[in-house]
Amino acid sequence: MDLIIRNARLRGQKSLVDIGIKDGKFERITEKINEKGDKEVDAQGKFVSPPFVESHIHLDAALSVGNPRYNQSGTLLEAIDIWGDFKHNASKESIKNNARRAVKWLVANGVLHLRAHTDSTEPTLKTMEAILELRDEMKELIDIQVVAFPQDGIFAFKGMHKLLEDSLKMGADVVGGLPQVELTREEGIRSVEHAFNLAEKYNTLIDIHTDETGDDQSRFIEVIAKLAINRSMQGKVTASHTTAMHNYHNDYAAKLIGNLRRANLNIVTNPFSNALLQNRLDGYPRKRGTTRVDELRMRGVNVSIGNDNLMDPFGPFGKGHMLQAAHLLAHTAHLSGMEQINDLFNMITVNGARSLNLKTYGIEIGNQADCIILDASDEYEAIRLTSECLYVIRKGNIIVETEPAKRNLYINDSIFNIDFKL
Ligand code: FE2
Repeated sequence: MDLIIRNARLRGQKSLVDIGIKDGKFERITEKINEKGDKEVDAQGKFVSPPFVESHIHLDAALSVGNPRYNQSGTLLEAIDIWGDFKHNASKESIKNNARRAVKWLVANGVLHLRAHTDSTEPTLKTMEAILELRDEMKELIDIQVVAFPQDGIFAFKGMHKLLEDSLKMGADVVGGLPQVELTREEGIRSVEHAFNLAEKYNTLIDIHTDETGDDQSRFIEVIAKLAINRSMQGKVTASHTTAMHNYHNDYAAKLIGNLRRANLNIVTNPFSNALLQNRLDGYPRKRGTTRVDELRMRGVNVSIGNDNLMDPFGPFGKGHMLQAAHLLAHTAHLSGMEQINDLFNMITVNGARSLNLKTYGIEIGNQADCIILDASDEYEAIRLTSECLYVIRKGNIIVETEPAKRNLYINDSIFNIDFKL
């Protein structure tokens, strides 16, 4: 064996196992591997999980916060203005440098698969070039899917539909959309149809920024579900955000969610940016800007989580930590039952793999040996403590090692080590 992980606690299992890795793949998973590995890691009973999946992030904007100015109102509209100024003036190299740094943060936090929504409306497409080049540069470290994301719409401004198609010709993996910024509802529907046409032409997946507004009349998601059904694209289509669903009439939402299940649509919720950007104009009382995660899950719709923004005009916070995003969603979406907490962990692992349409994922014999060892005993403790990744393993190689913090509390002559664990 090239690497053996000893005393690993896999999800949902009480007894510990040894995991043997050979030639970059999981070779054996059993109670005790007697042979010695070329390299060995003792997990000491800690939780060993498949890597995190970041379902939705804007790498081209990452770490640009404050450049050229901070978003003082905190609104989505001011963020789009600032991003417009930034992308006009930034060089491809500076965009790539920021994105590379952000990817390193994400990998250090255990993310080995991510979907990068990348602006396809910058006239020179330097944003697209930067992230496509980074995808190829970092492919040994992390799998990056690039979405051609029309930040300024497909038809709202001249030439945008051509830039979108050019992005796919350059190698973007996924067609995006933003129907709620088109000039009319009819144009929004046309933009969704256009995205489906492109996906068929270039054989790509679809991930559309859908109804990212508090407006309960924004209902492009039903159009997306209809097209996924009619064009037999079930499972290959993702609707990101869907925050307007929070505000829909309950009768409409009940009908809609049944159709989302029928369309096998993936929903991506983005706890940080949705909490920050949505319902800013409510006054008081102020609604929550999160889609109906509990209802969607109860009715069998796949939901996964993205960070969306990482220190950019849309959101000034974050460090690329999926457990932090899950922890926030637990609070903003009322997910504190033990089954719901367990499901939150699904949303940053297996459900994300489903959203990204990954063919193989998980700690199973024969799969690529990608996994993380968390400083926690299970998914509940991992989310509660927003635990560190002690190890990140990619293709059987250790690519991240983290020293956990050590806190000594002194009371009289005694020393207490505080790790917040029961
Ligand atoms: Fe987004």
